[in-house]
This record gives sequence, C-alpha cells and structure tokens, in this order.
Amino acid sequence: MNLITVKNVSKYFLQPTRMQVLNDISFEVEKSKFITITGKSGSGKSTLLYLLSTMDTRFEGSIRINQEEMLGRNNSWLADFRNHHIGFVFQFHYLLPEFTVLRNVMLPALKLRRYPVAEIEHRAMELLQLLGVGEQAHKRASLLSGGQQQRVAIARAMINEPLIIMGDEPTGNLDSYNSAAVFELFRKMSAEKGQTILMVTHDEDIARKSDQTIHLADGKIDEIMVR
Ligand SMILES: Nc1ncnc2c1ncn2[C@@H]1O[C@H](COP(=O)(O)OP(=O)(O)OP(=O)(O)O)[C@@H](O)[C@H]1O
Ligand SMILES: [Mg+2]
Repeated sequence: MNLITVKNVSKYFLQPTRMQVLNDISFEVEKSKFITITGKSGSGKSTLLYLLSTMDTRFEGSIRINQEEMLGRNNSWLADFRNHHIGFVFQFHYLLPEFTVLRNVMLPALKLRRYPVAEIEHRAMELLQLLGVGEQAHKRASLLSGGQQQRVAIARAMINEPLIIMGDEPTGNLDSYNSAAVFELFRKMSAEKGQTILMVTHDEDIARKSDQTIHLADGKIDEIMVR
C-alpha cells in the first residue's frame, strides 16, 4: 500500500509575477522506503518537499499521506497531523538558540505527551549519542558548530518516531564522514522502525544508495529511478 500518493500536483507563485514552479507532478511512495529528490538549483525540490510536509497547501492536484488528503485541511488539523506523523529537517536548521541541545530535541515529544518526561530525556540522549553530539547535550544550542546544530535538528526530527522523516539537504553542512553516518542512521530507522525517508540532496552518493530517486527539472519530473 502507498504511504504517499502525489497526483497531478502543480504549484504557482504569484509574486512578483505568476510563475509555475511545479508542473503536473505525480508519483507514489511505499512505506519504509528511502526516497531522494534531486535536481538543479531552482528546479522546485524545496517547494515540492514543503508541499509534502503539509506546511503549504496552496497547490492544484492531490497529495494523500497515510490515506488522508492534505488539500483543503485547516491549519490546526495539519499541525496535529504533522506533529504525529512527520519529522522535518530544514535546509537551515531552526533550533531555539537559548535552549540547551537536549531541550531542543525533547520539545516535540513534550508537546505530544505520549511518554513521560524521563523517558523522553533518555531517548533524546540516545539519539544525540547516535548522531555523535551526545557530549554537547547540556550546552546552549547557539554554541554548537553548524554541522553539530544540523545533527541536533536531525535528532529533533526523529524524537517522535514519525511515520515519515523529511529533510531538505539535511547533510548539506556535514563533512563526508558525518554525512555518511546520518545516511546510515536514516537507513537504520527505515529498516528497524519502518520509517519512510524523503530527502532532498545534491549528494550523488546518497542518491545512488537510496531506494528511489525523483529527479526534477524545471518543476517537472524528469526521471524516477527505482533501485
Ligand atoms: N516564495 C516564493 N515566491 C516566489 N518564487 C519562489 C518562492 N519560493 C521559491 N520560488 C521560486 O521557485 C523556484 C523553485 O525554488 P525551490 O526553492 O523549490 O528550488 P530548489 O530546487 O529547492 O533549489 P536549491 O537547490 O537552490 O535549494 C525558483 O525559481 C524560486 O526562485
Ligand atoms: Mg532548495
């Protein structure tokens, strides 16, 4: 069964002039697959991922995730759906600079209130350690290096064990060693927990190792490679 079904999706930006950014995009994603989205700068990758993340529902066509249509939903329904099902790592991480690293990772889980605080803390520490930033846990987030902050953002996206983890170049600030480690972690999560990964990347190696690559050119699907 498909976890994500995208059908005839088009997207226009109206400012400064009307411009079509996505043109008739259709594809399907099965559960627990690792999907990469590639294409030149400006081809529409971030725009597409943003629609899939349900943060923007101004599009034509249909996006179904976990049997639910995203078009026409109100903001509070979408926020709730996201908090339960989607973990997102942005191109630029948005940590709360005044909070500790550990607190940043714990926040989405504290909001969800599915587990007791002690358990959330334990799990957050575990993720930070897996990502090689366990020793930074009690520092303020603003004191970490860019790559360290990005790994914290990845831990934060994973804390609720979402059905889908989305990343917009989540390894963009990382060296090849850490970028490979993040890839392996994503892989492990999808294999062990059945999570589905959707990741925009410029990294050819990562794309080649993913289950499916959706290649965009000028807002259209140029090619879908299934491995
Ligand atoms: N809010 C916006 N308003 C108007 N145009 C936009 C907006 N956001 C993006 N665009 C335009 O849409 C096109 C696709 O942008 P998008 O950010 O999706 O590209 P991308 O493939 O992610 O590029 P990159 O690899 O550089 O991140 C670009 O031409 C961009 O200028
Ligand atoms: Mg982008």
